Amino acid sequence: MEVITERAAFREACEAARADQRVVGLVPTMGALHDGHRSLLMAARTQCGFVAMTLFVNPLQFGPGEDLRTYPRMVDADLEVAAGSGCDVVFHPSVAEMYPAGEPDVTVDPGRLGTRLEGAERPGHFRGVLTVVAKLFALAGHCRGYFGEKDAQQLALIRRMVRQLDPPVEVVACPTVRERDGLAISSRNVRLSAVERAAAPVLWRALSDAEGLVRRGEHDARRVREHMAGVVGSRPLARLGYAAVVDDETWENLDRIRGPVRLLLAARFGSTRLIDNVLAVPPGSAPPASPGSPASRGDRGE
Ligand code: PAF
Repeated sequence: MEVITERAAFREACEAARADQRVVGLVPTMGALHDGHRSLLMAARTQCGFVAMTLFVNPLQFGPGEDLRTYPRMVDADLEVAAGSGCDVVFHPSVAEMYPAGEPDVTVDPGRLGTRLEGAERPGHFRGVLTVVAKLFALAGHCRGYFGEKDAQQLALIRRMVRQLDPPVEVVACPTVRERDGLAISSRNVRLSAVERAAAPVLWRALSDAEGLVRRGEHDARRVREHMAGVVGSRPLARLGYAAVVDDETWENLDRIRGPVRLLLAARFGSTRLIDNVLAVPPGSAPPASPGSPASRGDRGE
């Protein structure tokens, strides 16, 4: 496995792979790799001839009060995971290499969806995410890009960017990986104290309950939202950020559920903020194409 720190060399490595008839699978990460990242790498390894992981903690996507300084950095361990997962190349640039002219003033505007839900809690976050992902797409060139469903709003925005700005990238969504008790795997989980960790699976419980309600024919989105909020609220250690029911294609908030919806939760456990989501399909609706395959789609909203 080769570790590349310069943009030009990374571009050349991807071009050389394509010249060799290999499909490039791009797995963007900020490191602190866990089983969620491993599943993205394995999907890319199965579906592509050349797997390129990027390892870059992107300062643009952190707000002033956020955890850029303390974000876990464990490069040696990450490189081991990447090698063990069959990566061909890891692109690990410095901040100066990625942004040689300093913080860019030309950025990717995520539109209105970028200001709602996670975007309301973290102003500027999705502009930072889309800007770095656009740069990585530009460097990698024609490729498949692998992203987790755990960050559903990020995934929806990346799909919109690809649809509207036409980089030669096919977005592949991979299912959320969970602990045995349902907690979605995230690099933030290690920050939970023992009691917070014990409380955190309430997010999955609330989402699974609500998914069951929708599957059995509950059409009132307010009732579904209130149910999720009630389950989360039953754990004194959990402080709800939002409980949302959005159309899985347009990401608009709903009153009536008539097709596949995305159920979303954010909550704080102590100082650690966790998010999770699940797809729910009412009776009689066709589910969207299953994630994890290059052909899967979803989120047609503009
Ligand atoms: O999901 C992440 O780890 C980051 O937001 C990403 C997509 C690598 C961009 O920095």
